[in-house]
Amino acid sequence: MSKQYDIAVIPGDGTGPEVVAEGIKVLDAVALKHDFKLTYTQYNLGGDNYLATGEIVSDQTKENLLKADAIFLGAIGHPDVKPGILEKGILLNLRFEFDQYINLRPVKLYEGVETPLKGKKPEDIDFVVVRENTEGLYAGAGGCLKKGTLDEVAVQESINTRKGVERCIRYAFQLCRKRDKAKRLTLCGKTNVLTFAFDLWERTFNEVAKEYSDIKADYAHVDAICMWMVKNPEWFDVIVTDNMFGDIITDLGAMIQGGMGIAAGGNINPDGVSMFEPIGGSAPKYTGQQVINPIAAIMAGQLMLETLGEQKAAADIEKSVIKVLRDDISDVGAGKMGFTTSQVGDLVVGYIK
Ligand code: IPM
Ligand code: MN
Repeated sequence: MSKQYDIAVIPGDGTGPEVVAEGIKVLDAVALKHDFKLTYTQYNLGGDNYLATGEIVSDQTKENLLKADAIFLGAIGHPDVKPGILEKGILLNLRFEFDQYINLRPVKLYEGVETPLKGKKPEDIDFVVVRENTEGLYAGAGGCLKKGTLDEVAVQESINTRKGVERCIRYAFQLCRKRDKAKRLTLCGKTNVLTFAFDLWERTFNEVAKEYSDIKADYAHVDAICMWMVKNPEWFDVIVTDNMFGDIITDLGAMIQGGMGIAAGGNINPDGVSMFEPIGGSAPKYTGQQVINPIAAIMAGQLMLETLGEQKAAADIEKSVIKVLRDDISDVGAGKMGFTTSQVGDLVVGYIK
């Protein structure tokens, strides 16, 4: 009997549902070709649902999501909901509660896609950022005193545990070995200033590195990393970093690989339920217009299949996306593709058959 995967789908807000539909179209096409089954259960989480029902994400929903093999997410963010409520209540909540401790963000420039970096070619921009996804400044530790007065104090602390840091670093070393490219893992930190947090990171990194003598273990400060990502992105193979730095450098990464229309990410719990998403937002002003590039969502599906162990099907998606980017669409930006969102999905499917 062919393998079956239960996928929980959270289309979310704004243009999320449009791009998720294309992701599913492509997933179905490769599943058919490679003889496995995908079943989908849809969850209407997001701004509209919150405004209508007051529910952010219920315990029952979480219980159901935990039974899935993976979660496929569109976008969360609604113009009528105060910033932070949905992001913290849904996205971060699921990352934390499902212990998706890796945020995996490939940065790869495909042929036919324009990068703002002058003179850089696809062979120069091909690395992966492994972002710690459950700790650091995102842990929510801290508080405030005398709010709203002139004596107000606000403290926001970065939580770094040996366990959390080590499992993230180990994942990065393993990934670097598996990628089998330059075999260089760069720790991105700030050891010259954050002398507690990044001392823990650096010591753990150096200890784990001893078990991976085939990998060149490298270190750079986060500010320097930003500089090199622009000037010499070809120096990077795999970068591992904490939650906050990872958040920042992966937006930079998304830009040098052609923008939010392309960039995908996975929130991964290697022993549990992982969640895959295009990393761009819900782009509310474009809702329903069919102008958003669905490649990022399609590549999120590709990452999902890779993580589920369907390597051949995942490779097929990437190959087809490469052709569409190289030969078909004129630009990756919203409204500039020369095709609608749905037509881009059809183009990818066309190469899969
Ligand atoms: C991301 C986003 C989120 C983050 C926001 C929406 C909470 O920017 O996935 O990178 O900061 O992690
Ligand atoms: Mn971000």
